[in-house]
Amino acid sequence: METVPQSRRSFITTLALLLASGALLVRYLTPRLPAQRQLLVSAADADVPVNGALVFPAERLALLRDEKGFYALSLICTHLGCTVKVTADTLTCPCHGSMFDRQGRVLKGPADRSLGRLQVTVRNGVVEVMEG
Ligand code: FES
Repeated sequence: METVPQSRRSFITTLALLLASGALLVRYLTPRLPAQRQLLVSAADADVPVNGALVFPAERLALLRDEKGFYALSLICTHLGCTVKVTADTLTCPCHGSMFDRQGRVLKGPADRSLGRLQVTVRNGVVEVMEG
């Protein structure tokens, strides 16, 4: 039976450790690419009146517009997850009565956190709402 000399075995072990360490180093030093944001809904900008809202029940979100522009809110109540209803002045949760202003800030509990904001882009007359 042939035996591998100790110095060759040691060299191969050291080389394997160096390669593994290098691979780990590259993995952790390489910046991750930003995740692609997923398009949730889109609408023509003219379909959302100033101080109005367009509600997308299936996506549980509302696209709103004020004098400053467009923004989108998640309609998932931050208390226990019911779907918030949009009225002219407020957003109200039918489950336990939490109320939010048109910016999604809590007006009345039991919810204690604002509604989630979603990413909005406006391009060529089309408003797109992207995942957070
Ligand atoms: S789930 Fe909305 S107030 Fe409780």
